[in-house]
Order: sequence, then C-alpha cells, then structure tokens
Amino acid sequence: MDKISSIRGMPDVFQSDTNYLAELNEVLSKIFLSHNLIEVNTPILEQTELFVRSTGATSDIVNKEIYSFNDRNEQSLSLRPEGTAGVVRSIIQKKLDNAEHKLWYQGPMFRYERPQKGRFRQFNQAGVELLGFEEGSSDLEIISIVCDIFIELELEDSVLKINHLGDKDTKEIFLSELLKYLKNYDGKLNESDSEKLNKNPLRLLDSKDSELKNFLNKGPKIIDFLSPEQLNLLDMIQSVFGKYVEIELDSSLVRGLDYYTGLVFEAVSSNLGAQDSFLGGGRYDDLSQDLGGKEMPAIGFAIGLERLNLIKKQKNIKANKVISFVTTSSKMSALAFKIAQLLRSHNYDIRLETNFTDASLKAKLRKASKLGAKFVFIMGDEEFESETITVKSFDEDGYQVNMTFDEILDFYKNI
Ligand code: HAM
Repeated sequence: MDKISSIRGMPDVFQSDTNYLAELNEVLSKIFLSHNLIEVNTPILEQTELFVRSTGATSDIVNKEIYSFNDRNEQSLSLRPEGTAGVVRSIIQKKLDNAEHKLWYQGPMFRYERPQKGRFRQFNQAGVELLGFEEGSSDLEIISIVCDIFIELELEDSVLKINHLGDKDTKEIFLSELLKYLKNYDGKLNESDSEKLNKNPLRLLDSKDSELKNFLNKGPKIIDFLSPEQLNLLDMIQSVFGKYVEIELDSSLVRGLDYYTGLVFEAVSSNLGAQDSFLGGGRYDDLSQDLGGKEMPAIGFAIGLERLNLIKKQKNIKANKVISFVTTSSKMSALAFKIAQLLRSHNYDIRLETNFTDASLKAKLRKASKLGAKFVFIMGDEEFESETITVKSFDEDGYQVNMTFDEILDFYKNI
C-alpha cells in the first residue's frame, strides 16, 4: 500500500528536545501580560471575503498564497494567512468597535509559499493588536512591546526597521510624484513589477530587482512628504527605544499587506538568511471601516515563532533539568509510579523520565546519560526493601547517596 506523506511546507514538529512553541509562548505571554494585554482566540477558518477585503485583493497573500475551498454549502472559506483580519472581524461582530482593546493571540497561519529555511506553508505567529487608539502614544506602546521581546530574548543581532507611509493625502501626493518619476523607467519593469505598478505602485519600493532599486533610491522618498508630527513620531521612537534596540529608518519599507497606513516596521536578523524578517507590523486605521465596522484606528504586529526560534540565543530559554528515575525490574513499578506521581506534583519544572521495565540497569543508565539527565534515581531490590532511593549524580563529582522517600521529596522540590 502507498504511504501517505505530509503536505510540503507543513512539517511534523516533535518537540522533545526543543519545545520552542511552549517556551516562546511562555516568554511572550509574560511580556504581553506585563503590558496588560488580553488573549484572544479567533478561528483558523474564515470567509475568504474577509482576507480579500483586509490584506487586499492585490496582495500576494490573496492572489497567490491563500488556501481557499468551498464548503459543502458552496461558501468560500480560507485558512487564515494572518491574524489581524480575524481579530478585527471579531471585535466588529461583537459590536465592540466603539471601545479600546489591547489584545494578543498566537496560533497557526497558512500561506502557499515556496518552502525554504524559515518559510513554511503552516507556521505559528504570536501577534498583538491595539485597537481604538489613534496615532501617537499607541505607536510608542507597540514599539515598547517589540523592544521587550528584543531584550528578553537577547536578540542583539537584529535590527528594527521603521518607516511612515503618511496619511491618505501625503500618500496620494507621494504616489503621483513616484509615478511621474517612474515614467523615466518605462518599459524596463519585469512582469511582477509591472503588475505592482498597475495594482499597488507603493509596493514597487520593496522590489527585489536591483536595477529598479538603484533607480528608486535616487527618486522621491516618502519621508520628504511627511508632516512634522509624523517625522516627530519617527524621531521619538528612535530616541526612546534606540538605547535598547538598533533602529533604522528605511524609506523603502512598505510591507506586503494592503491595510497599512502610517507607521510600519519590520525586524530583521542577519542569522536568518534570505527570509530575514521575523517580525512585522504597523498601523491600519482604515481596516475596521473596510470590514463594515466603525472608525477604529489601530496598530499591531506579529512575530513568526519558527523564525524567532532560529535566532533566539542558542541557550534554552528555560533549561528544564532532566532526571531519570529507574527501577532494576518491573516488579517495583507500582511503588515507583506512586513516587514519580508524588514527585512531579511538587515540581513541574523538572522533566522526570521514568523507566520501570525489566531492561538492564546498564542500558537504563546509558539512556539517562544520553538524555542529559542531571541525576538518576535508582530503586533496586535493596532500596525497595528499605523504602529508600539511591540518587546518583551525573556531574563530574559523580556522588551517590541513599535517601528516604521524605528526603527525596525534599531534594526534588529544591532542585
Ligand atoms: P507578516 O509580516 O505577513 O505580518 O507576518 C509576520 C511574521 O510572520 C513574519 O515576520 C514572519 O516571521 C512570519 N511569517 C510570515 N510568513 C511566514 C512563512 N511562510 N513561514 C514562516 N513564517 C512566516 C502579518 O501577518 C500581520 N498580520 C502583522 C500585523 C499585525 N500587522 C498589524 N498587526
């Protein structure tokens, strides 16, 4: 019979030695809580229309990357490619779009992209959305959350790029200048860039074509069209947070989703290779109205957990100690399971690996050492009779002591 394999770009993840999702979620949720954010969970499946109206009919996400299908009722549904649209839809649906909300979420997202290092078709994001807040202090607050992630995860090799896309008026004036300038480049655009020119010319600014990039570098820059308040915001971000994070002003940063207005930002790391961006976000003041809601200015970001895992300091965020608990035969397994249950209930920070089978002690010790166990708890015939356990240290000193059950519980609590 033919074997069935997983879908390309959707790997199975076994987390026995790098439990990155749990570890990162623990650190990130602590940071989010410290900013008084509330967790929200929206469905993985939404109506396709939601993503067409939010990320934009001209975006790569909707044009090439979305997983859509008709359900049994002939309704077009899509696996969510990102989290912002679902969160805003949910707030509008609950008629909460007249208030302020500070939310965070995490979960799987789906995009039909060409898989490579750090790029998958199913990946996990953690995201933050501050809804109902106008430009100003919420922009600083969002960067402050990003800054905490940089500090807590020691992302020293990373840079935070920022830009401002202006408001509707500035964007319009800038675009007409840009199009005028691009007339001199007529005919030389490749296929994908010509498409961008027709659908969303601002996206040409992040073209991969080096000749076009050089040409645009000498052309009009959005920064020259910004208002004093908008320039002041960029200055403030740099002066308040520049001490903690390397911040770079990048006038070619436009982001790939159509809903952005105002501040946009992206964090990149030199350790990631081609897919160097691991966090992205910005302001999206019109999205609520585009989805039929009230005026609800907002700003947010999302961070890719697989990419974050590739660049975070190679140390374990929380190096849980491993202890191996073995018996010399299966005959004492009932007592051993009782003790193991008691020990775990007093310290869930330890990974207690148990082996109460009839395999040889030598094999069990070898396995414990392979697991990186700090100690092995051994229960043999003698220990079973005397109601004790022998603790063997795997450190260099290699000491061995015999403890009563009460003593071992105390020892375990304080490891
Ligand atoms: P995004 O830049 O499309 O923004 O995605 C955010 C992050 O998700 C990226 O920086 C990257 O780390 C990760 N990511 C994206 N695609 C993939 C992939 N194929 N494989 C692995 N990781 C990936 C958004 O999604 C916006 N919703 C962010 C936002 C929230 N803006 C405002 N609020």
